[in-house]
Amino acid sequence: MPKVRKAVIPAAGIGSRFYPLTRAQPKEMLPIVDKPVIHYVVEEAVKSGLDEIVIVVGAGKDAIINYFDRHFLDDSMDESYFSEMPDIYFVRQRKQIGLANAVLTAEAFVGEDPFTVLLGDTIYESGTDKTVTSQILEAYDRYDKPTIAVEKVTREKMRDYGMVEGDPVGPGTWAIRNLLEKPEPSETKSDLGITGIYVLEPDIFNSIRSTKPGRNGEYQLTDALLDQVRKRDVYATSFNGTRHDIGTKELWIKTFMEYVSRDKRFASSFDSK
Ligand code: G1P
Repeated sequence: MPKVRKAVIPAAGIGSRFYPLTRAQPKEMLPIVDKPVIHYVVEEAVKSGLDEIVIVVGAGKDAIINYFDRHFLDDSMDESYFSEMPDIYFVRQRKQIGLANAVLTAEAFVGEDPFTVLLGDTIYESGTDKTVTSQILEAYDRYDKPTIAVEKVTREKMRDYGMVEGDPVGPGTWAIRNLLEKPEPSETKSDLGITGIYVLEPDIFNSIRSTKPGRNGEYQLTDALLDQVRKRDVYATSFNGTRHDIGTKELWIKTFMEYVSRDKRFASSFDSK
């Protein structure tokens, strides 16, 4: 099995949940302390050994492309934040018609290799010395099946997630039987929500092509995975760590405050007098 080195980072969604903040800037460029969210996502990829990275952008996302250029006046400042960063490639999703279609735009980049999809608006803090993405990649290596990350979600939160139904095959790992994108709580007994790390193989592209528009009229990656499940084994695995979804104003503000309150550089500014 070839080692996974490629990461596809979809960052093309229109970010309407953040209006007016995202009318003229991508949601992936929202700050968490002094770096934009997308910077953390790329760091997670690099720390996980994924050094061939493509970001899927679209209309209104030029700031992401500009951000990764080396155009700062002060090179030393640039180095402290960008020293580990490989070259980053960009593809454009020409119409924002769903996550599955965004992944499909990376097909030529992926070629014949297994690859990881990391959502551009979700960041992770590992509870171990391995990144969360490395933990999912290890499960992929162990079982030799496409593997997606899941965590337990409450019944009220289900409407915000793709949900997985599966049979346990090992500690914290399930063989997926069924997937539902943003179901009503009455539609499934499962509490396993898709968190946004997917280790996939190139046959996913045929599954995406055969998928019809689903929830919200968009091409859903969850539906393409269901097509895979009907043809081959796909696994879901949990992880040790914390996931910060930056998908809504509340979640972004919460994550920002958590990170800033822990950052020693700013501690004195928040001392209560
Ligand atoms: C996407 C996926 C969903 C997944 C979620 C995780 O939804 O479609 O299956 O659970 O990411 O954040 P979105 O949040 O983009 O609506």
